[in-house]
Amino acid sequence: MKAIEIRNRYLNFFKKHGHTVIPSAPIIPENDPSVLFTTAGMQPLVPYLLGEKHPAGTRLTDYQKCVRTNDIEEVGDNRHLTYFEMLGNWSLGDYFKEESIKMSFDFLTQELNIPVEKISVTCFAGDEDCPRDEVTAECWKKVGIPEERIYYFGKDDNWWIAGEEGPCGPDTEMFYDTGKPKCSENCNPSCGCGKYVEIWNNVFMEFFKGKDGKYTKLAQHNVDTGLGLERMAMLLQGKETPFDTEIFKPVMDKLVELQKVDSIVSRRIIAEHLRSSMMIICDGGRPSNIDRGYILRRLIRRMIRHMNKLQIALDELSTLIDINVENLKEMYPALETNKETIKTVMLEEKDKFVKTLTKGEKEFFKEMEIVKQQGKDMLDGKMVFRLYDTYGFPPEVTEELATENGMKIDKKEFERLFKEHQEKSRAGAEQKFKGGLASTGEMETKYHTATHLLNAALKVVLGSHVHQRGSNITAERMRFDFSHPAKMTDEEKQKTEELVNKWISDAIPVEHLEMKKDEAIRLGAEAMFIEKYGDIVSVYKIGDVSLELCGGPHVTNTSELGHFKIKKEESSSSGIRRIKAILE
Ligand code: SER
Repeated sequence: MKAIEIRNRYLNFFKKHGHTVIPSAPIIPENDPSVLFTTAGMQPLVPYLLGEKHPAGTRLTDYQKCVRTNDIEEVGDNRHLTYFEMLGNWSLGDYFKEESIKMSFDFLTQELNIPVEKISVTCFAGDEDCPRDEVTAECWKKVGIPEERIYYFGKDDNWWIAGEEGPCGPDTEMFYDTGKPKCSENCNPSCGCGKYVEIWNNVFMEFFKGKDGKYTKLAQHNVDTGLGLERMAMLLQGKETPFDTEIFKPVMDKLVELQKVDSIVSRRIIAEHLRSSMMIICDGGRPSNIDRGYILRRLIRRMIRHMNKLQIALDELSTLIDINVENLKEMYPALETNKETIKTVMLEEKDKFVKTLTKGEKEFFKEMEIVKQQGKDMLDGKMVFRLYDTYGFPPEVTEELATENGMKIDKKEFERLFKEHQEKSRAGAEQKFKGGLASTGEMETKYHTATHLLNAALKVVLGSHVHQRGSNITAERMRFDFSHPAKMTDEEKQKTEELVNKWISDAIPVEHLEMKKDEAIRLGAEAMFIEKYGDIVSVYKIGDVSLELCGGPHVTNTSELGHFKIKKEESSSSGIRRIKAILE
């Protein structure tokens, strides 16, 4: 069964059981700076698991685009993926263990036709925080799982929480028996030998773990489930790895055709990182040197190096993107609509890396010789950091080069230096941000307000994908950076100017409001650095035209601004445009 069919059957099955199908949240979490990417279907639902009413009701289902990057280096083996799709269903204070288990069992056995004999399950063994989950075990017996295929494990295996703090609870996991021989007499679903593959996790979320590590009962009991789509497709198709399914096959085949050197590991890395980066870019991610952008940069650069390893011409990247869009557009139609942006961003990042790749590799080999002559086998952290800082080498690229040459790298030291560097960049960014707001002359104040109008006008003219990426104001002019994939046409520039000038002549009052950050987010307020604000935020409202988090200062009426004129529109970096404008 193809992945898309599994997804459709899943959503239909839960719809039939009273669930509302909700859309996948973006991979880049909206308004949640605490995590880099969406890593589970429950993540965007946390407020509702904690008791807030969800507008779509108490039974929800979706497919969620997820990125988990703890194991980037592991990608290339037969199972790790950085991007994956999670199918999920939720009860928000609605059904609990019995109904949840019955539905999971019916879906697996009736919709996916998995023989009952192939299913084993695990339950929570109990400890001082929560009793042994015999209720769950009983539910499994009732639907037809015999006692000998019901296992109990502790918190390490059968308790689920995202991170350190938040809604959590005991879970029950379903495993598929691949039919491989037992690794030992004690072979069981938690032994990791590969005989049993985890296919679904149902979390009975009725606890909250606080910062102090203490568990309290939530006001409502919830069910949160997650089923990994790629893995399920692999098992149902009888394949050994997700790379053998239709999700990766076209790109994998093309790589075989293009390669001059053979390596299955490199092909998997290319195919996986290609899909992952395309999905991240599609949801608005851009390569950079910090946080999310840095992960994306690492994925693309590692992919490029493996293309080099296979001696595939880097120009073929464009073909690989085309193949992936064609193959995946039914699952993710946005890949097709955003194809040009994806290409531009990936090809620009490739060009940036290529410029330094040869030099960086030369530098690496020079350094390696020195280290070898000293009789050592470890490149120090400073060197790894220098390769990163000067040549843009992500640490895993240096590590791979080292491994290929029988060397190691001092990753701990690199990470320390990298952290130090990131803190400095962040402090710098904050400084710049503060600087932007600090100047309060009359003209600067006018330009501040003009920035909000321009931001709003660009959204109307170009689309809602436009977001502010930076701004710089002097008494003479404003500079505004925003996300947009292409050069603006003369017509678009003219329309933008006209719209801003219309709003100026409409003489709209500019109101200053203070509200809770959550409320501002709910009202859809624009914010560039939401994480930089406290709980109570300052918001500027310009009629129905604009609502933005901002420290000000601003004029009190748009009529004070004069005439707005765009002087220049140019590229700032990949997928980011820059407008220079004046008020006359
Ligand atoms: N949140 C759980 C998981 O990620 C179930 O969806 O496994």
